[in-house]
Amino acid sequence: MRIAIVPGDGIGVDVTREAVEVLQTIGRLRSIPVELVHFAWSADHYLATGETIPPGAFDDLSRNYDAVFMGAFGDPRVPDMKHAADILLGARFALDLYVNYRPIRCLDDRLSPLKGFSAADIDFVVLRENTEGAYVGAGGNFKKGTADEVAIQEDISTRKGVERIVRHAFEFARTRERKRLVMSDKSNAMRFTGDLWQRVFAQVALEYPDVQSSHLYIDALCMQMVKDPRQFDVIVTSNLFGDIATDLGAALQGGLGMAASGNLHPGKVSMFEPVHGSAPKYAGTGRANPFGAILTAGLLLEHLGHGTEAGAVERAVAACVREAQCTADVGGTLSTSAAGDAVRGRLRFEE
Ligand code: NAD
Ligand code: IPM
Ligand code: MN
Repeated sequence: MRIAIVPGDGIGVDVTREAVEVLQTIGRLRSIPVELVHFAWSADHYLATGETIPPGAFDDLSRNYDAVFMGAFGDPRVPDMKHAADILLGARFALDLYVNYRPIRCLDDRLSPLKGFSAADIDFVVLRENTEGAYVGAGGNFKKGTADEVAIQEDISTRKGVERIVRHAFEFARTRERKRLVMSDKSNAMRFTGDLWQRVFAQVALEYPDVQSSHLYIDALCMQMVKDPRQFDVIVTSNLFGDIATDLGAALQGGLGMAASGNLHPGKVSMFEPVHGSAPKYAGTGRANPFGAILTAGLLLEHLGHGTEAGAVERAVAACVREAQCTADVGGTLSTSAAGDAVRGRLRFEE
């Protein structure tokens, strides 16, 4: 496995260190050759050099690596997030990673924030469209800084873009035991994009009679995720709604420190990152929970065909949570690196 590592900013650096050590440990224990190539693209690098990401970088990533791992981006010294737009959103767009795969799995009863619901009740996947919608950066300002100013932010859905994520969602739902797919949009208020999503979803559904498909408006979806998460198996939604729903989903897993994600394009080089951000106030303090990043390394392993190793990662993290060998946000007293050690010490491979 040749993997590009981009730790980024803040706690992205702290948690990536632990995830990388997990990959190295697994490589050793399982005799899998692991080559990790680090890239310094970050706010520091941008402020020092004026460069966010060098020309040709995405070409290099897509040609010469099996996968990319990113930490997090965000730094108070770069308020417009220019570097994150170029590096993180840049990777999603340039590598055409149209599936943002965000599993919402609660690994221990103790982490469920919902009264009356156990870990087993919280187990679904959000598939977030990842290459268009409100994130395309189309829009502009008029009379900026005056009393008459106008700001326009376009939300763009294309037929191809909607169809490929919806089709992927049906294919994915088909592989699941429950085979249930919910599409979520805001077609009652946002008629133009909503109508496209509605028509594409209904049309593609005809090809998947074995999948039970239904629809919820995004506001209702958020409410139902809290009211009864057992009803969900797979959810497909647009870029912005998926962003918001998966922070809510992270809360159902025990917090942002527990949430993992993959940015995928089946058959192409994919990119993996925890759902959380750079949490600047925790940077370098040893308080960041590395489990979201470590679970993300598990998704990377699974994606590259190492299912046994991925299973070991998830069970080791679950064991750590059960035994309170974890950071304070999930009820432990360990530092970031000690929590990483705890996971590495609990890796057990079941063929
Ligand atoms: P954040 O995820 O960085 O942190 C929000 C809060 O969640 C933290 O204050 C902390 O209490 C908790 N938290 C998050 N991750 C944690 C972890 N691993 N361990 C323990 N606690 C954790 O979100 P924010 O404060 O809204 O954003 C900070 C910066 O990160 C901003 O610049 C934002 O744009 C950026 N951001 C980047 C990404 C990314 O790179 N993927 C994602 C979200 C936010
Ligand atoms: C995420 C983050 C990013 C997003 C930000 C940092 C641009 O919140 O990965 O969920 O909105 O996609
Ligand atoms: Mn987000």
